[in-house]
Amino acid sequence: MSHCIGLLSIAAKFSLLVFLLSAVFLCSSLSDRNPEFALTKTEESDLKEEKGKESVTEDDADAEDLEVFYPTNWWQTVHPGQAIPAGLHVRLNLQTGEKEAKLPDSTNEKSDMKDQKKRKRLDKVDIDSNSFTSQELKEALAKLKENEKTKSTMEANLEDVRKRFRPIEELKAEFEQLNMRIETDYEIMVKLINKFNSSDSTLDEKIAALYDLEYYVHQVDNAKDFLSLGGLQLMINGLNSTEAVMKEHAAFVLGAALSSNPKVQIEAIEGGALQKLLVILATEQPLTVKKKALFALSSMLRHFPYAQQQFLKLGGLQVLRNLFKEKGMEALYVRVVTLLYDLIMEKMLLEGAQNNEDQMEEKVQQYSQVKLVPAVVEQDWCAIVSNLLALPEHDTREKVLKTVSVLMTFCKDRYRGDQHLNITLSMLRSEYEELAAEEQRQGDKDGYFKELLGSINTIIQELR
Ligand SMILES: *[C@@H]1O[C@H](CO)[C@@H](O)[C@H](O)[C@H]1NC(C)=O
Ligand SMILES: *[C@@H]1O[C@H](CO)[C@@H](O)[C@H](O)[C@H]1NC(C)=O
Ligand SMILES: *[C@@H]1O[C@H](CO)[C@@H](O)[C@H](O)[C@H]1NC(C)=O
Repeated sequence: MSHCIGLLSIAAKFSLLVFLLSAVFLCSSLSDRNPEFALTKTEESDLKEEKGKESVTEDDADAEDLEVFYPTNWWQTVHPGQAIPAGLHVRLNLQTGEKEAKLPDSTNEKSDMKDQKKRKRLDKVDIDSNSFTSQELKEALAKLKENEKTKSTMEANLEDVRKRFRPIEELKAEFEQLNMRIETDYEIMVKLINKFNSSDSTLDEKIAALYDLEYYVHQVDNAKDFLSLGGLQLMINGLNSTEAVMKEHAAFVLGAALSSNPKVQIEAIEGGALQKLLVILATEQPLTVKKKALFALSSMLRHFPYAQQQFLKLGGLQVLRNLFKEKGMEALYVRVVTLLYDLIMEKMLLEGAQNNEDQMEEKVQQYSQVKLVPAVVEQDWCAIVSNLLALPEHDTREKVLKTVSVLMTFCKDRYRGDQHLNITLSMLRSEYEELAAEEQRQGDKDGYFKELLGSINTIIQELR
């Protein structure tokens, strides 16, 4: 599988662009067959510009931290900060400038993984040319993009693409002739890590390096390289930096590297990441720092029962609970509840799936050590969760309702005596009855509000 990603910023001859773009289309359309190939952005000024843009949308990015990217067979936009599960096709959409991902065409994950290892790494292309400015290049690119809008090149079938574009080997040969250097993700990460680790770099430069690293370590293989390069430990050390912005970005990179990556999860917990993340969450820190720490913590805990066990041992659940007493941390509530929900479900689903495979048994054995639910009940998360039903956003309520439903078995007695909950549920029921009726009038028979109403009614019934 391929990640045809990268940013384009080079001063190049206009004619070059034609096959630069061909390369990208080839790459995005033939992603199963061709080595990865993308265009890189190396110019300082452009990097800065990009940074500036990114920081404006920082808040948007934050909102996505704990959002799981749900892949489909179609290309979908990956929002900044969204964790991309392992094994997806990722590409840069030239028309929108956004990252996109989808499920690989083959459903056989294992053979995909092998392909991934075998594949050649040709992620970036550096082009050295002084004859055109980056402004000229950008304009040229803009024109080309404009033209491309009329063709749906991305969807072109393979034959079509083969006819229209030259084979990648041919392109490579041309690049070589032009003395262009092909830079791999690995090399780029080495540079970024060195930039980050260098005592000559300013804080801004270090943060910029982290920002770029976050992008690379989403890829499972890159994250492993990041580990072997010593980058992971640098991030863990960054967690106790005196600079809030450093802690924030170190946690961000860490969270991205940890996502769906067992090897990194093990190394990170051995490197002391769990303790440091909990310290951040337990002490007075800006919300932005805690957000990213919670993101990294979630990535660390998901599908890693050993970490979950350690988390409980270290009093992590209590640390999360205390966030609900702290002023200004409201933005974290739903994220915390979602994490709890995921962890509870993870274990339940595994226990539900009766499977005789040894590996499965071992997993069940590991999860049996995670005494999450007793701790949840003991710390009265039942009420913490149900109180969040008072929040106004529908999608928040949806998540909370889901969590209340899974907690129902353990919290029933608590909920039965809760007059406040009784009133809240009645109010929500009337609200969603109305919204569902309206939805139906507009022709949507199985709409979103109907679904929410269904959850509410189920909860009310169970409490009778
Ligand atoms: C970071 O820099 C220190 C001091 O220069 C060096 O000893 C260490 O190996 C570097 N770490 C990495 C991961 O490059
Ligand atoms: C963070 O703590 C580790 C030891 O746990 C230490 O080696 C490192 O220097 C600390 N980093 C900072 C920036 O204080
Ligand atoms: C709320 O309490 C009233 C009585 O106090 C009861 O009739 C009703 O069923 C309760 N509703 C829910 C949703 O538990």
